[in-house]
Amino acid sequence: MAQEPGAARGRAATAEGHHLQQPVAQHAKRRRPLVLEVSGLVKRFGGFTAVNNVSFRVDQGEILGLIGPNGSGKSTIFNMLSGTLAPTSGSILFAGHEIAGLAPHRIINRGIGRTFQIPRPFRRLTIFENVALAGFYGQGRHSRIKAEEAAERSLAMVGLPTDRHASVDGLGAAGLKKLELAKALATAPKLLLADESLGGLDETEMDQAADMLRNIRDELGITIIWVEHIMGVLMRVVDRVMVLDHGEKISEGLPSQVAGDPRVIEVYLGTDAETTQAAAAEARRRAGG
Ligand SMILES: Nc1ncnc2c1ncn2[C@@H]1O[C@H](COP(=O)(O)OP(=O)(O)OP(=O)(O)O)[C@@H](O)[C@H]1O
Ligand SMILES: [Mg+2]
Repeated sequence: MAQEPGAARGRAATAEGHHLQQPVAQHAKRRRPLVLEVSGLVKRFGGFTAVNNVSFRVDQGEILGLIGPNGSGKSTIFNMLSGTLAPTSGSILFAGHEIAGLAPHRIINRGIGRTFQIPRPFRRLTIFENVALAGFYGQGRHSRIKAEEAAERSLAMVGLPTDRHASVDGLGAAGLKKLELAKALATAPKLLLADESLGGLDETEMDQAADMLRNIRDELGITIIWVEHIMGVLMRVVDRVMVLDHGEKISEGLPSQVAGDPRVIEVYLGTDAETTQAAAAEARRRAGG
């Protein structure tokens, strides 16, 4: 698991009672349809609140970056969006329908796919079989042929061999991440939840993985929420960023706004703030704004 920026900094200094400034203007201007609308999401484990009253929206075709210190609740949100965990309370509207508390297979069938932070492929199956199996279950177990076609397309998309015999054993960290992505794509998602796609990769591999997420959005039109600790890469790719700390949303906005938010710098970015701001500024220049 990757260590977050500014890990050595204390986290006790989060400003309790700080009021968020909602990006009202941004929502007022929205043109693309909403894919996801999360309201008042809460997850408690016994007496511990891992996610506390989090609300956010994601537009069709958007890449939203979800960031925050270790243990801030990012994967727990993914687990609730994908049905692995039922929320304690709150609403998750996906394409206008309530999905909070539905079983994972129902949510996958409706079009939310995910990758896992720690890849755990079936080692006794080939690469192709792993992806086809994900496609078979993800698409409602209707057709083996459709699942195999989806597997071929997904493997080609992420740049893994599409032949039926290649073994999982030869895959390194980057290959295993690609396999995770191919499995998620084979389920034909409308919304992809990508958890820590870059951990364990070298710089070139990181850039390739980030480009791949962008291609998936650009070419397949898939909306993406991306959890990542490697800020320099994330800030270059995402359209918008949301920041969690201790289970609460503490900031949300354009990469350049979030990278310059003093509270985000204090609880998360720390000494990485400058690099993060530079990456966000570069992305903004490239986007022509
Ligand atoms: N099943 C569980 N039972 C009890 N506590 C849990 C469970 N899952 C997560 N937690 C706790 O909830 C908090 C949020 O965890 P989560 O995995 O969502 O963090 P994260 O933001 O994904 O962190 P990381 O960046 O390290 O992946 C942590 O304190 C974690 O220990
Ligand atoms: Mg996590």
